[in-house]
Amino acid sequence: MSKKIFFQDIPKEVGKKIDLYGWVYSIRAHGKITFLDLRDHTGIVQVVVPPDGTHPTFSPEDVVHIVGTVAPRPEHLINKKIKTGTVEVQAEKSEIISHSQTPPFPLETSGYDIGEDIRLEYRYLDLRRQRMQRNILLRSSFVQEIRSYLVQKNFTEIDTPILTKSTPEGARDFIIPSRLQKGKFYALPQSPQQYKQLLMVAGFERYFQIARCFRDEAQRSDRAYGEFTQLDMEMSFVEQNDILELVEDMFTSIVKKLFPEKNIMQSPWPRIPHAEALKKYGTDKPDLRKNKKDPNELAFCWTVDFPLFTKQSQEDFFHGSGRATFAPSHHMFTSPHPDDIDLLDTDPLKVRGLQHDLVLNGFEIGGGSIRIHKPDIQQKIFDLIGFSKKQKQEFSHMLNAFTYGVPPHGGIAPGIDRALMALLGEPSVREVVPFPTSASGKTAVMNAPSEVTAEQLAELGIRIVDE
Ligand code: AMO
Repeated sequence: MSKKIFFQDIPKEVGKKIDLYGWVYSIRAHGKITFLDLRDHTGIVQVVVPPDGTHPTFSPEDVVHIVGTVAPRPEHLINKKIKTGTVEVQAEKSEIISHSQTPPFPLETSGYDIGEDIRLEYRYLDLRRQRMQRNILLRSSFVQEIRSYLVQKNFTEIDTPILTKSTPEGARDFIIPSRLQKGKFYALPQSPQQYKQLLMVAGFERYFQIARCFRDEAQRSDRAYGEFTQLDMEMSFVEQNDILELVEDMFTSIVKKLFPEKNIMQSPWPRIPHAEALKKYGTDKPDLRKNKKDPNELAFCWTVDFPLFTKQSQEDFFHGSGRATFAPSHHMFTSPHPDDIDLLDTDPLKVRGLQHDLVLNGFEIGGGSIRIHKPDIQQKIFDLIGFSKKQKQEFSHMLNAFTYGVPPHGGIAPGIDRALMALLGEPSVREVVPFPTSASGKTAVMNAPSEVTAEQLAELGIRIVDE
């Protein structure tokens, strides 16, 4: 195969004979001449196929190889809508490398009106549409920009385990049976919360991770079922304001670079106390856009001063004992406000937490807090949320770690999918995820979950019970 030229670079090759590799996007016949639009991941180029009897009959979505000469287009035929609109390629030799059947749905449209089940069944085709290519390429740039911003600010990227123990974030866990220790289970992480705090104990003062999180919770347009991705961050020796300023600066610089057509409505971003948000807007994630129909308005704000607890049955929170008790508004590692410590004993529902939610156009795109770093306060929180001795035992490693010199620390986790959905103005997180899971929990294309063999079950010591 000759060296692949990316289509966006073809205008630089005027007068040269080149090899084109790509997909047939559209075919138009003008008399005996055929015009092909060929597509690769960088753009579209027009190919003129002469009626000399040597070229095959093309179908849409065929993968083809064409040898031809790059020619400038006459002034009146220049297409300003595409990057290669000043040129076309005069085909001399062509071959179909791989023929495509007719796709099950159109690929040249936005795709919003096509049923989600069939889009996910044929996701590898659905992803060929221009809108999805743009979303996935922007997702890649977004993550690259995050990485370079944070590395430059002295952060270290660190992976944490996927096979782990439950960290309750309010959803059900996905559990994995152990073969070596029959009857025991790993849990997939709902977030890397405990590990990132342990990394602070370990002395990595500024950590981040593009982290996959797993939660068995009902799907919504802004909430993925099964798995999603967070930018998980944690810092030592910081106050809440340091976290808020850093995240604000990071998002502002990335938006300027990747979304120059968008306007950030207010800067610095408003910081709204939770009670005021409820009173003024009736929600803790207000949509502060002036004109909600304008796709280029970005209204960021912070919600702060959340109550540390909400009154809730423990059943709802931890699927545990069912005793009515206090549930953490964010999670049980969130620090109470230092001025409210005494209220923990007298009036826990009045205690404010050092929690911060990041809101964009009415979506909660991130959440975090300053953490508890004193074992006695953590114990007290465990008691207030009604943990049994056994439940406390499950978190003893945290309390233990905190007896070996723990820096004060805090962090945040913006959701990559939800942030991109809001930035791009897409109606669902599934429009920015390459292979999302359906509402019924079916994975795209591969159709998991699926049955396993009797041998696999026997090895794990598991028997399926008919309901
Ligand atoms: P939290 O549970 O608030 O915090 O999650 C942080 C952010 O992750 C995104 N998110 C989701 N995105 C898509 N689908 C989901 N099912 C989903 N669930 C959450 C949201 C949300 O704001 N460990 C803490 C973070 C911390 O304290 O540092 C945590 O996970 O954008």
